[in-house]
Formats: sequence, structure tokens, C-alpha cells
Amino acid sequence: MRTRLDCLSREFIENPHAHLAELRRQGPIVQVDPGGMWAVTRYDEAQHVLKSPQLFSSTGMRLAFQPEWLGRANPLAESLPFLDPPQHGRLRTLVLRDFTSAAIKRLEPRIRALARERIARLMEQRTVDYMEALAVPIPATVVCWLLGLDTALLKHFERWAHDIALIGGVHPEDTKQMEQCRRTLDEMERHVQGALDARRKTPGDDLMSDLLQASAGGQALTPQELMSFFFVLFTGGVETTTYLLGQSARMLCQHPELLLRLRQTPALIPRFVEETLRYEPSAVALLRTCLQDVTVADTALPKGSVVLVSLASAARDEKVFPDGDRFILERESAQHLSFGHGIHFCLGVMLARMEACIALEELLPHVGRMELRTERIDWTTSLVVRGPRTLPVELFPT
Ligand code: HEM
Repeated sequence: MRTRLDCLSREFIENPHAHLAELRRQGPIVQVDPGGMWAVTRYDEAQHVLKSPQLFSSTGMRLAFQPEWLGRANPLAESLPFLDPPQHGRLRTLVLRDFTSAAIKRLEPRIRALARERIARLMEQRTVDYMEALAVPIPATVVCWLLGLDTALLKHFERWAHDIALIGGVHPEDTKQMEQCRRTLDEMERHVQGALDARRKTPGDDLMSDLLQASAGGQALTPQELMSFFFVLFTGGVETTTYLLGQSARMLCQHPELLLRLRQTPALIPRFVEETLRYEPSAVALLRTCLQDVTVADTALPKGSVVLVSLASAARDEKVFPDGDRFILERESAQHLSFGHGIHFCLGVMLARMEACIALEELLPHVGRMELRTERIDWTTSLVVRGPRTLPVELFPT
């Protein structure tokens, strides 16, 4: 009997692609650890699960973020990614209009100015942790702008993100950590509420003001729904985009010839960002729960089974992405699933792409070469997101 792959083991976190290739050889759906989840390894089956919310629910994961010990509501547990139809559709329709609208495009000049300022500092230092210098500050600042939060709060973001992620996995006896998680939720809620009240009195040029005005126009988001939406922008919008920025820098270190091409032809940057998203997705997996007994690729899954849709594996499915282990800028294949698929397709897709493209457009005119300054990357340990925690690099000016 084969031993099950542990998706939280060090070997897997450090080198998932070799293990995922082996899983794909075993079949389109394979049982893995922790907990005997069913990993969906291939593109077609991944798409099928994600576009069948009537069979595969997103609500199961709410429980992880709303444990009894919390003793208070966690706004994240009630947010879009954890809702099924019909609740999901109503809420998404209300926020979609504002999220894809001019509010996002209006951010472009500010993002560019922020990137320029950060890159000027980075080029002075030359040897930096790319994550700290650029990949974290851009998405984190942008989310502050979206939420109407004071950027002075950025210094708390890391702790907030850490505590929220931890709610799903606090040890039953770790009362100190439980207390810390409660305090963090209170603190975040207080700040968001303060920003909401201020925007209600004096609307600004931001998403928060747009959403409040939409609420005033009849089709209202309830105060709880607004709060949940802000929590999900914070948790979904920062870490994923940070890793996209980090992975694109890592690709440029590994492929100096690509850096040269992109500098000479900046119109290729969006293609490069897409191939980075396919090759090293920030959201490596999505979780669903079976709402009834269901069969996927001839495997019977009982009601309640947890399904792990491996976006990282689907992105290298040889049937859909020939030579999938190679980074190919000119790739003309199917759309990757790195922003999800179906009703939960990422709301921040435009923004994430814009941030990644701007960072490279502003960086590349100054850089002739970039080199990694570490033998071993420190990767995040998570089932659902993956990226470098730090990325020491040296930049050589043009
Ligand atoms: C590279 C960056 C990003 C990646 C890879 C990414 C990936 C994803 C994925 C895979 C989903 C689907 C979740 C599911 O089906 O369960 C999703 C949903 C979502 N994303 Fe993103 N995301 C990114 C950036 C952002 C940003 C910048 C924001 C907002 C500031 C954002 C907001 C959301 C929201 C609100 C949802 C939930 C949509 C729904 O459930 O209807 N994301 N994202």
C-alpha cells in the first residue's frame, strides 16, 4: 500500500511540483493527508468541482474560522468565499459593481508612485529582502487604501494576518493564543468600523465610500456584510498578491534572459505575469465539502468528504499545459485556474494583475540582472497558499 502524501510535510512544502506530478500519475483524485482529504489533481476535474457548488460546498470551511472557543462572531467566516448560493450570489452582485469599477482603475497612478518610491530605495540598497522591500508593502498599502485605513496600521498587518490564519488551528489548551485571536478580531473590527464611520460622514475617493453609497441607494449591504467583506479583502488581497510579486522576482533571478526581454519589450510583462501565476500559483489549493454522495472520475466520495482542489497540480496537467514544468512566455494554452473558476472567481483579479505589472514596469528599466542570495527559500506552511516568506536578492543596475 502506498503511503499518503502529507501536504503539510516539509518535503512537500519545499518541492510540491515533483510530488504533485506523482499524484497525477496515481490518478485524477487521490487521498492525501492531513485528514484523508481527496486531492483533485487534474485540470478538467478541478474545473468540474469548482463550477458545481450544488455538489461541492464552500461553507464547510467556515467552521474552521468559527470555533466555539472564539465566543464571538468572526466576520471572515461569513464572507464571500465561505458562502454557497443563493446567499453568495446576492452579496457578490452587490459588491461586484463597485469592485470592478473605476475605483480600481483610479488606484493606478497611486500604485505607480508607491512602486517608484520603493524601487528607488531598493536600488540604493542593492542587496535586499525583496519581500520586505517591495512584495509586501505594495499589496498591503493598496488594501489600506481600498479599506480607507490609515497606512500607519501597516505595522500591525503581519500580526493580524497571522492571528486570523491561526484561528483554524489553535491548540485546544492554548488559552493565551485564543485570547490573542479574540483581541485581534476586536482590534481589526474597531479600526474598520472607525474608517467606515469616517467615510459615512465624509465620503472619499475609495472603494469603501463607493460601497457605503451603494448601500444608501436601496440595495443595502448590512453592516455585518460590509465588515465581512473588508475582512476578506484583507485576508485574500494581501498575501496572495505578495507571493505573486515575490514569485515573479524569483523567476527573473532564475531566467536572466527573460529579464532582458521584458526590459526591451515591456508589452510582454502581462504575459510574464500570467505564466508566473500558472507556474507558481499563490493560491495552491481550494477546499470544498461534498454536499451529497458524489462520484468524481469514477471515485465515490461520501457526503461530507473534504476535497482539496489542487490548483498547483491542475496548472501542470500535461494534457492541458504541454511541457508544463517549463516556464514558457509564449504559452498559448488554456486559461490557468490560479484565480479560481466559477461563482467564486477572484474579485481582485484586475487589481492583482495591475499591481504585479506596475511593479515590474517600474523595476525593470533600472535592473540589468537580479540574483538570488540564498541557497534555500523559506516557504509559507499552508495548505492553501504558497510563497516565499523572505527573498534575499542582489540587484545589478543597468
Ligand atoms: C495573485 C493574487 C490573487 C490570487 C492568486 C487570488 C486567488 C483567488 C482564488 C483562487 C479565489 C477563489 C476562492 C474559492 O473559489 O474558494 C479568490 C477569491 C477571492 N479573491 Fe482573490 N486572489 C488574489 C488577489 C486578490 C485581491 C488583490 C483581492 C482584493 C483586494 C482578492 C479578493 C478576493 C475575493 C473577495 C474573493 C472571493 C470571491 C467570491 O467568493 O465570490 N483577491 N481569489
